[in-house]
Order: sequence, then structure tokens, then C-alpha cells
Amino acid sequence: MSQKYIVIDKTSALEADVLFVLKDLDLKHFPTPWDSASWDQVFSEGAERFILVDQRDGLIPGFVLFDLNVVDSFAHLLKILVNPDNRGFKIGKNLLNEAIRVLKERGIRTFFLEVEEENIVARNLYESMGLKVIHKKKHFYSNGGTAIIMTLEV
Ligand SMILES: CC(C)(COP(=O)(O)OP(=O)(O)OC[C@H]1O[C@@H](n2cnc3c(N)ncnc32)[C@H](O)[C@@H]1OP(=O)(O)O)[C@@H](O)C(=O)NCCC(=O)NCCS
Repeated sequence: MSQKYIVIDKTSALEADVLFVLKDLDLKHFPTPWDSASWDQVFSEGAERFILVDQRDGLIPGFVLFDLNVVDSFAHLLKILVNPDNRGFKIGKNLLNEAIRVLKERGIRTFFLEVEEENIVARNLYESMGLKVIHKKKHFYSNGGTAIIMTLEV
């Protein structure tokens, strides 16, 4: 099996077939998916971003997407997603570890994220990597759900 991580940002071409897979995974399996237009503009808005894609034998079992604030050395994890067929094999954890390497390379010192209180699997993943809860926001999600805000110094 061939496996590699690909970093995509505004300086690299986001190939149409990769964009198609990311949109499809997000729409089908992310709790709060973006619409198609948001994906089409993923690198054209103000924030600096990167997507880290896990590619295996030409397939994409998962990806992670970060917003970067390079001036203030912090980042915001917007999405981490592993295809349901590939869950439970450390793909998410390894993606996050590789993303932390990329964040450090780009001068980022801290990142934060929101996770729905009920999303126990994701919370376990973040806790197992040392992220700490700093805040709770009630009614954060459109379904009325509470967000837990977590952070990690990288
Ligand atoms: C969260 C998600 C990315 C985890 O990906 P994954 O590749 O299955 O996770 P891993 O195999 O790397 O597991 C990492 C940790 O998550 C936790 N975890 C994984 N599967 C779990 C399960 N079924 N039940 C409870 N905890 C679980 C464990 O703490 C695990 O670490 P450990 O095996 O060392 O104990 C994946 O479930 C997903 O894509 N969920 C939908 C999208 C989402 O909710 N993203 C987060 C939004 S904030």
C-alpha cells in the first residue's frame, strides 16, 4: 500500500478530483458540512489555510483543515474527518499529529477547536492528544448543541 500526506494551501493547485472527494466526504459524514460554494472558495477568502489530506492507493480516507493566524501564532481546526469505512485505525490521530508538525513548521504555537458536547469519539481523540477544555458555548450549533472549546500548545 502506498500512503502519503499532501498539504494543500493557496499556493498549490487543489485538483478538481480531490476537491470533489473532500466535498463529498464533508457533505455525507461531517456533523456541520459546508455548502459547495464554501468549498469552491476554500482558499480565496481572507484567512490563510491548509488542508492535510491522507492519500492511500489514490483514495482519501481522511483529511484535516486548519485556519492559520500566522501573525499571532495560533490556528483554528475547522474540520477533521475520517471516512466511516476507515475509522478506528488511528488515521485521525496520525492526521492530527502530522498536522501539528505542519503547524510548527509554519510558526504556530497554539491551536483551538470547537467540538459538539455529544461527539464523544472526537472528544476522546482530542483528550488522548492532550487538548484541554477551556470553555463551553451553549447553543453554538444550529441544532442547539453545546460546543466545547479545546486548545493545545504545539
Ligand atoms: C473523530 C474522527 C476523526 C476519529 O477518527 P479515527 O481515525 O476513527 O480515530 P482514531 O482511530 O485515530 O482514534 C483516535 C482516538 O479517538 C478515540 N476513539 C476512536 N474511536 C472511538 C470509538 N469508537 N469510541 C470512543 N472513542 C474512540 C480514542 O480515544 C482513540 O484513541 P486510542 O485508540 O488511542 O484510545 C472520526 O470519528 C470522524 O471523522 N468523525 C466524524 C467527523 C467529526 O466528528 N469530526 C470532529 C469534529 S470536531
